[in-house]
Amino acid sequence: MKMNYQEALKAMKKAYTPYSHFNVGCALELKDGTIIHGANVENASYGLSNCAERSALFSLISQGYDPKDIVSVTIIANDSQPVSPCGACRQVMHELVPKDAKIYLTNLKEEVKETSVEELLPYGFVLK
Ligand code: THU
Repeated sequence: MKMNYQEALKAMKKAYTPYSHFNVGCALELKDGTIIHGANVENASYGLSNCAERSALFSLISQGYDPKDIVSVTIIANDSQPVSPCGACRQVMHELVPKDAKIYLTNLKEEVKETSVEELLPYGFVLK
């Protein structure tokens, strides 16, 4: 399994970031090879901004795909280190991204950290 660097970069180019100018892209890969893109979308009311990871996951659900089919997640930003997902996105990934899916955090220097939902959010909230 490799990260989907070019697809994440494509997603990053779709970001709407007039306030932070910090563009983030997320590429979800499904088991049949389908790629779902997500970018961060900001708002003048700053707290309403949506991160790339959640944009991608909400798009996947909205388009009728099954999150159980996700095999990898690649997240990219122009950061000094492989981009670290925020707490809210970790919780959403914990619920929707399968435990065995590969999560690749990267940046424009192509530095990569491979991780997983359990590593990003141990003891995450679940409603039973
Ligand atoms: N952001 C993401 O899209 N994903 C992350 O993992 C971290 C932060 C966005 C939110 C906001 O639009 C910008 O980056 C700066 O915080």
